Amino acid sequence: MKKTLLACGPFAPALFDGCRERYDVIQLDPPSGPLDDTFKAAVAKAHGLMIGNRRVGAAELEGAAHLQVVASVSVGYDHHDLDYLTRRRIMLTNTPGVLNETTADLAFALILATARRIPELDAWTRSGGWTESVDGARFGCDVHGKTLGIIGLGEIGAAIARRGRFGFGMRILYSGNRPKPALEQELGARFVSKEALLRESDFVCLVVPLTADTRHLIDRAALALMKPEAILINISRGGVVDEPALIEALENGVIRAAGLDVFAKEPLQASRLFELANVVVVPHIGSATQDTRNAMARRALDNLLEALEGRTPMNLVNPQALA
Ligand code: DGY
Repeated sequence: MKKTLLACGPFAPALFDGCRERYDVIQLDPPSGPLDDTFKAAVAKAHGLMIGNRRVGAAELEGAAHLQVVASVSVGYDHHDLDYLTRRRIMLTNTPGVLNETTADLAFALILATARRIPELDAWTRSGGWTESVDGARFGCDVHGKTLGIIGLGEIGAAIARRGRFGFGMRILYSGNRPKPALEQELGARFVSKEALLRESDFVCLVVPLTADTRHLIDRAALALMKPEAILINISRGGVVDEPALIEALENGVIRAAGLDVFAKEPLQASRLFELANVVVVPHIGSATQDTRNAMARRALDNLLEALEGRTPMNLVNPQALA
């Protein structure tokens, strides 16, 4: 009997052409709210589940008696209940690597948009505000030659640092678990404490996964260490920042501006952030280009097939599930 592969997300049907002979493929568009009974009925038949940035844990997978692997189409996996999956011996895979450059592009888009106040001045221009040359009230700040502090110099952090160093002549500071001598050599980057990075950087870019250790890494005390002219960029996870403390800091001029791709609660609907001119918000689009999402889907499918065919998937997150 063929195994069943459930693909939950906006994946091109052609992606599965090569595996339809060996697998029954069910494609589902996930509902915008919680995963519903249609999902639960489909996952009850599935041996492999491929899914985008949606939480799956006990509530969603209780009836998934045959499930061997969840292939997440994301690099971050904080939205999955890893302990639950491991206890059930369900493999979890992710898609690192293929989204590094695209996500770094977005970080730089946010750096430039906040520094040069692009959305704010776009709205002002469209509304007829431009009646004479702009004056200091609408000036932005420079990016080139400034100090870029990266918290979490992994592969995405390094791609951001390269743009800063070689594209904009920036000085690079980084903090994290350990120094990275090869990147220091390549980028002239300096490993410093989080506190020193916050004090010295003009742009602070967050690129850490969300874990118990990084939740609210940027809280009121951390924001108070930043320069009043500094800009915070968050492309990691909303939970890394204490959002009410950030809003207060932006309202009170503790920092200059923030560029945010991720939020405490997503999708972000009503928020005080929307009232602030010194914030640029985008809807979690770090990896959201067609090319990169195609590459992530391909990688997720490869991981899923490796798992179902009895090999260890390349991007296995919980090897304990095999124990
Ligand atoms: C990821 O892959 O974790 C990204 O945040 C999704 O865009």
